[in-house]
Amino acid sequence: MDIKIFPGKTAAAQGLARDLATMLESAQPNGAPFNIALSGGSTPRLLYEILAGPEFAGVIPWQRLHIYFGDERCVPLDDPASNHLMVKKAMLDHVPIPAANIHPINGGNDPHAEADRYAGEISRNLPNGANGLPRFGLVLLGLGGDGHTASLFPTVAAAAPGRDDRICLRSVQPESGQERVSLTMPVINAAKMVAFLVTGAAKAQVVAEVLKKKGAYRTYPAALVAPTAGRLRWYLDSDAARLLKQTP
Ligand code: 6PG
Repeated sequence: MDIKIFPGKTAAAQGLARDLATMLESAQPNGAPFNIALSGGSTPRLLYEILAGPEFAGVIPWQRLHIYFGDERCVPLDDPASNHLMVKKAMLDHVPIPAANIHPINGGNDPHAEADRYAGEISRNLPNGANGLPRFGLVLLGLGGDGHTASLFPTVAAAAPGRDDRICLRSVQPESGQERVSLTMPVINAAKMVAFLVTGAAKAQVVAEVLKKKGAYRTYPAALVAPTAGRLRWYLDSDAARLLKQTP
């Protein structure tokens, strides 16, 4: 695992965007698709806007980039809470990516049925990794205040990564009761690279606990992220990393 700390949230998003561009340059030299699972919520919007912005015009090989989603809220695709809608507005509507390269979770479907459908789509399109699970080139994750990531909340089976042989699951946001569809922890850990983008002082405590607290994996699903045969990198701004130095 490595941790990159940037002076602010824009620098952190830019740093991740630049590393993604470099990764794409060397990935799949035979022109095979590069499959990425994007995170939702508010933090990554800035990253998506940067990737659609002037610095990366003509840099990202959109023709061979296939966009999946690490999780989705079970709301209609045009609902303001939809992760797909956020990514569409921030990036997909502004870049030359073929429509066939965009693989949304359909939040308007029955959650259990959609989890099965999406698992099938992923399974058909992605190569398998060493553990026999579909292998993303990159899974982008955020971190919730309760230590959840994707839509793997402390109450969900995230705590049993070894026993979960599913690719996707239906979960429920514990405060709101909102249903979600999410990649499972074993699929996240099958990825070639997993990158957390976490910014802001409000995340400092949970970042320190996830990264430093002994046995954090018992409480925080994000602490279970440990790629089986891949890399894990945290992109933090100084506000989110503030307590790391003080935590033994
Ligand atoms: C979602 C995300 C979720 C998010 C965290 C952090 O659908 O909301 O996938 O896991 O990354 O909740 O959200 P913020 O970036 O808004 O703090």
